[in-house]
Amino acid sequence: MVSSIQSSLGSERKIITELPGPKSRALHERRQAVVSAGLTNGFPVYIQRAEGAILEDVDGNHILDLGSGIAVTSIGHAVPELIESVSNQVAAFTHTCFMVTPYESYIEVCEELAALTPGTHAKTTALFNSGAEAVENAVKVARLATGRPAVIVFDHAYHGRTNLTMALTSKNMPYKDRFGPFAPEVYRVAMSYPFLDGLSGAEAAARAIAEIESQVGAHNVAALLIEPIQGEGGFVVPAKGFLPALSEWTTKNGVVFVADEIQSGFCRTGDWFAVNDEGVVPDIVTTAKGLAGGMPLSAVTGRAELMNAVHEGGLGGTYGGNPVAVVAALATIKFMRERNLAQRARELGESMLGSLRTLQQDVAIIGDVRGRGAMIAFELVQPGTKNPNAAAAKSIVNYCNQQGVIALSCGTYGNVIRLLPPLVITDDQLADGMNVLAAAVRAAG
Ligand SMILES: Cc1ncc(COP(=O)(O)O)c(C=O)c1O
Repeated sequence: MVSSIQSSLGSERKIITELPGPKSRALHERRQAVVSAGLTNGFPVYIQRAEGAILEDVDGNHILDLGSGIAVTSIGHAVPELIESVSNQVAAFTHTCFMVTPYESYIEVCEELAALTPGTHAKTTALFNSGAEAVENAVKVARLATGRPAVIVFDHAYHGRTNLTMALTSKNMPYKDRFGPFAPEVYRVAMSYPFLDGLSGAEAAARAIAEIESQVGAHNVAALLIEPIQGEGGFVVPAKGFLPALSEWTTKNGVVFVADEIQSGFCRTGDWFAVNDEGVVPDIVTTAKGLAGGMPLSAVTGRAELMNAVHEGGLGGTYGGNPVAVVAALATIKFMRERNLAQRARELGESMLGSLRTLQQDVAIIGDVRGRGAMIAFELVQPGTKNPNAAAAKSIVNYCNQQGVIALSCGTYGNVIRLLPPLVITDDQLADGMNVLAAAVRAAG
């Protein structure tokens, strides 16, 4: 039954109405009365089912997904193994609350996370629901374990939308504006942004460390929190040497190095984690998104001595590590391992980087092409400068949407297009998407 539904979608983009179509427009009209205006939809086509890298909307259009629901459905949509695990779990039990009566699958996910995250030291994990919740808990653990208050974050960082994570996030609009006051003891320092600062990793790290030491004092710092490749902030890939230098400084100064791998983790960058690229071993890793194939699950995995420093009952939450979400994570990890999706991410990355670099030679609005694995972006500039061109990004996203391709923008200045295809996207699907994208860039430039 399940597989016959799956096989009926086909693998090609197919547009049969204007986009959004009449049924999507009617639903969008209906939402105005009951859904908060504070929530927007980038591309208001309403989805009724999906498979692989194709989403089918309520008008019967087949949309090509180059966003994976913001880096979540890395294993693709409607994966039979995940459907089976989740369905069986729903039939068995959906909730007990791990803090009341536990279950084995929670332990299995923690075992996987201990094995997959960098470093051979003893690690323990606590599971939560969203990325922001994981980051909040990582900060709680670091503060408790060190007895220090300060948290260091970086320019362009994005860590979530709860009160503490708004403070940790850099960009004001739309994430923070008028939502304050924010949590205290958060200090922001300069990120390595090779396209804009031209610094080596060592130089950028020295700059950040000097800022921390002069403005905060190392002995006050509980945690240094960083996305190894920034997500919402513009897919900023720090210069080589930046992360290792920061990691070394944290070790020397008793500061907890927290790698926020919520967007970059789980094969996205061509390895299980982005920090693996330079052999950095964080003290704590936060994960979510790609971890559970679309079910809400996040994790804080860290050195056992840090994670276990917390008093009994100090961590938790009603739904964290929900039984359905944890079996989805187990199915996702198994699928990633068996299909070697890290390798596939590297192949996709090479293909996307190749197409974009060729395109960059033809148009004046692409200032930079960057990324790793299947986490690729290009930064749009005013021709002949490095000044942001957000209008071009907007027009490219709109053009792609009109052609039935989901492309996402990001960046502090809204001038970066990011590509996050499901790692199971086929070569033909990717080529189709890149052709549409190239036409969109030419039309904007
Ligand atoms: C690096 C990073 N950290 C944290 C978050 C917050 O995750 P969530 O939206 O699940 O709260 C995100 C979400 O985009 C993210 O990319």
